[in-house]
Formats: sequence, C-alpha cells, structure tokens
Amino acid sequence: MKEKILVTGGTGYIGSHTAVELIHSGYEVVIIDDLSNSQQEVLDGIEKITGTRPVFAQFDLCDEAALAAFLGQHRDIKAIIHFAASKAVGESVQKPLLYYKNNILSLILLLEAMQRHDIPNIVFSSSCTVYGQPDTLPVTEATPFKPAESPYGNTKQIGEEILRDNCRAVPATQAISLRYFNPVGAHASALIGELPQGVPGNLVPFITQTAAGIRQQLLVFGKDYDTPDGSAMRDYIHVVDLAKAHVIAVQRLLKGQQKSNYEFFNLGTGKGLTVLEIIEVFERVNNLKLNYKVVDRRPGDIEKIYADTTLANEALQWRTELGVEEMMRSAWQWQQRILKHA
Ligand code: WQD
Repeated sequence: MKEKILVTGGTGYIGSHTAVELIHSGYEVVIIDDLSNSQQEVLDGIEKITGTRPVFAQFDLCDEAALAAFLGQHRDIKAIIHFAASKAVGESVQKPLLYYKNNILSLILLLEAMQRHDIPNIVFSSSCTVYGQPDTLPVTEATPFKPAESPYGNTKQIGEEILRDNCRAVPATQAISLRYFNPVGAHASALIGELPQGVPGNLVPFITQTAAGIRQQLLVFGKDYDTPDGSAMRDYIHVVDLAKAHVIAVQRLLKGQQKSNYEFFNLGTGKGLTVLEIIEVFERVNNLKLNYKVVDRRPGDIEKIYADTTLANEALQWRTELGVEEMMRSAWQWQQRILKHA
C-alpha cells in the first residue's frame, strides 16, 4: 500500500516538482491548491512525467469546512508538505493583510486540522529570507533571524515560530522547515516549470522572458555591491534538487529519524553567484545574447547571501546534483516550450 502524502500548493512551481519526485519515490500524492497562482494544467505535466495523475481539490486552505471534508475523505494521509502561500515580496508590501491571512491563518488552520485528523507530520516551505542580510557568510541554521524586510519574509519567520511552539506543545507533532535559497530551473522534460503570473519579480523568469522577446530588456538592479562584479549575489538552487530534499524530509518524519520534533535546514548549493554571472551562464549555455542594462538597486534587496549546507548534507544525506549550467539550460527549454504552447 503506497503511503499518501498531501501536497498543499502542489500545482505551484516547487510543489509540482516535489509531487513528481514523491511519485517517483513510490508515494501516493494528493494535492490541494486554490489555483490563485498556478494552473490546473500542471497536473497534465505531472501525469505525463510520472504516468500518475494526483488527486486534486481546488479550495482555499482558509476554508475550514472544505479542508475538514477533504481530510475526512483521505484518512490515510501520513504527512503534509505545505507549500501553499503567497510569495511575492513586493506584493506583500502593498497587501500585508492578504499575506498574513493567506500565509499565517492557513498554517494555523492546517495545524489544527492535523490534530483533529491525527496527522502528525508536516514539512514547511520556508525561505532564506528569514535571515535578512546575514552579518557573516555562509549562513548557517544557527544564524538568528533579522527583522523581516517584507511582510512576506515576516510570514516565513512567524510560520517557523508557530511550528516550533506547536511542536513544543504537541510532542506527537513532527515538523521540518526547509529554508529555500533561490529556486530556479525546470524539470528536464520541460513538461513542468515556473509559471509566473504577470510581470516576473524574480530574476530567472525575467531573463527567460527577455530572451523569448516577451520582455524588452532585463534591468540589473545595482552594480555597486561588495561582490566580485558589483552585482548582487544569491545561492541559486535547481528546483529538482530542492524537490528531492522534500522527499528525504518526508522519509525522515515517517521513519522517526528526527533528533527533535522540530528541525530546520538550509537548502542551497553553498555557492554564491552574482546576477551578471547568472546572465553570463545563461547566454553561454543557450548560445544567445541577452538585452540588459544596469540600473539602480531595487529597494529591499540584500547584497549577498549563500548557504552553509553542512546540516542538510549530513543529517538529510542530501546534496545538490545539478549545477548552474543545467539550471539555465532547463529554464530556457521550459520557456521555449510554454511559448510554443501559449
Ligand atoms: C535575485 C537577484 C535582484 C529581477 C526572492 C524572495 C525569496 C525567494 C526568491 C520565495 C536580486 C536581481 C531580479 C530583475 C534583477 N522567494 N534581479 N533584475 O529577491 O533574492 O528572493 O525570491 O521564497 O524569498 O525574497 O530573488 O529573483 O527577485 O532576485 O537584477 O528583474 O536578481 O536584485 O539581486 P530574491 P529575485
């Protein structure tokens, strides 16, 4: 009998890639998504890759009755991976209440429902944003949170604290927070990938849309940072490597391998790359020239961050396998496919 895993936000970018890896690892996947920032057609891609179409229900996790009904129909859920959340930093500054409601209230309601339905295990989608601009690099899990730069980042900090306190109060609950650095790229099949709604805020989708002629020109936000070429530095991680870490985290919970019932891990490559380096790799591996120009810094951006991955490497026995070339190649292949099917 396959163990059933609920993936909230499972038609989203990281959720869909994780659903694929869970199915490949022998799990049964059920998905809840409100489709506010994704499309139901993503299920076709998951089915084409794996041969399995996950059970899907469309509703807002803040709809308690819908959640109770769903969990009543799936009494054999062994763990939940909770991706469902709003994630646009800039939008969160404009609409903080939407972010606190969607990201915090839904987590609280999910945790309450887990207790009512005896589901002990949850993997939470967190972010390196919780660190702000670290004083020292690489950043480890022991690095204290800085005051969040945005309501979005605050919802990730608060989310982790809610999980920590809930795990203290309810010892039967087991939780792992995974702090993503910068997820990029797409599945090698080019059947699933990132589908930003509207004008992309993130670098790589803006690069691919510029290369595709959808955007006129990429603006590089700043070239006066304290980095090798002056542009800002991040730790870009292939979304498939990130997805595989979620499967390992679920296995850790199901096998009771945790050292404590609340753990958190950095998921990065441990290597920092600048914006201009990313552009160079993208142009080189895809044999094209990108139209970009350097402009002022983007307000709220940090200068540089990259992960110390020791804890995830050792405790999870997980390492990234895909390099920046594959990140940029797969991102472009995906963009070309969605262009064709637009
Ligand atoms: C990366 C770098 C920009 C766009 C955010 C969230 C984080 C996570 C990833 C969810 C920065 C530069 C970008 C552009 C540019 N999201 N840039 N021109 O800001 O590091 O992180 O997304 O978990 O939580 O905070 O990612 O891709 O927006 O920017 O020069 O058109 O690219 O200044 O240096 P960021 P990003």
